[in-house]
Amino acid sequence: MNKIYFGDNLPILRELPAGSIQLVYTDPPFNTGKTQKRTPLRTVRDDAGDRTGYQGRRYRSIRLAGRDFADSFDDYLAFLEPRLLELHRILTPDGSLFLHLDYREVHYAKVLLDGIFGRDGFMNEIIWAYDYGGRSKKKWSAKHDNILWYAKDPENYIFNFEQMERIPYMAPGLVSKEKASRGKTPTDVWWHTIVPTNGREKTGYPTQKPLGIIRRLVRVHSRPGDTLLDCFAGSGTLGACAAEEGREFILIDNNPQAMEVMACRLASARPEFIGFDAQMGDASVLRMSLQRRVLPQSARTVINNSTEGRAKADLPSEPARTG
Ligand SMILES: C[S@@+](CC[C@H](N)C(=O)[O-])C[C@H]1O[C@@H](n2cnc3c(N)ncnc32)[C@H](O)[C@@H]1O
Repeated sequence: MNKIYFGDNLPILRELPAGSIQLVYTDPPFNTGKTQKRTPLRTVRDDAGDRTGYQGRRYRSIRLAGRDFADSFDDYLAFLEPRLLELHRILTPDGSLFLHLDYREVHYAKVLLDGIFGRDGFMNEIIWAYDYGGRSKKKWSAKHDNILWYAKDPENYIFNFEQMERIPYMAPGLVSKEKASRGKTPTDVWWHTIVPTNGREKTGYPTQKPLGIIRRLVRVHSRPGDTLLDCFAGSGTLGACAAEEGREFILIDNNPQAMEVMACRLASARPEFIGFDAQMGDASVLRMSLQRRVLPQSARTVINNSTEGRAKADLPSEPARTG
């Protein structure tokens, strides 16, 4: 049964049974000291508008309701530690934890996790490298995130090597044609774009992570029918991959805007909401997501059937193509 909990994750994690989750992927706030904020814009044709588009047409931008969450903790490790202890407890004996951080906190979290899982439990530090945004003129520009992998039992863990996707060789001319066409397996450095700003997968939730990164983890580190958990779920990227790959999911977030995005994005997986009334979600959030084509037709049908008259009247019958 897929479940989405609204609330602080610590008391919720404490209620989950020990040894019940095969894969935890989680992406806590990075302690940047800022509020993570995204203000979506919509443009409409207007001759007096502030933007110029295709063939010189003028458009006016409209700011839609923004989404944000605080990303600042006085003592980040004291915040993380009790949650990591619970995550270790709820993993099955062959389960794994993937903790997604950035360069600011990863070294401290590594020491903390070594203490919880044992140094032998540390399997990899995956570097997700991307190439987006401004460049510093004062130091090397930081363009990667860090994902720490810990196995509960380093001698016995789920690892479906044959499910690993193949990627192109950097210099295919240096290997045989056969090898070049088969591609190679990825290393611990993963080059992958951020969620494209106008792409189908974008939900508008700040810090949303790409499906391509999470899907790779789900396929290799869990089996169909397993239960996957993300206790800092945001837009529900882990849930989307779990549903795609025939796994069950448990998601937790304490931000109502995350709940609204997940209610829309994961509707076709028919999750049970705990502590949140998904049918009371903001119709504008549903509408924006539908316009971005983040949902398949089946999910749109679920939403159309499950939303009240006010929301229903606002929903487009066919979403517009934006990217
Ligand atoms: C970096 S975002 C996760 C983004 C997510 N990986 C995605 O792809 O959309 C971190 C999330 O943690 C949530 N959060 C922060 N503190 C929390 C807490 N104590 N309990 C539950 N959720 C929390 C925030 O609301 C935010 O949505």
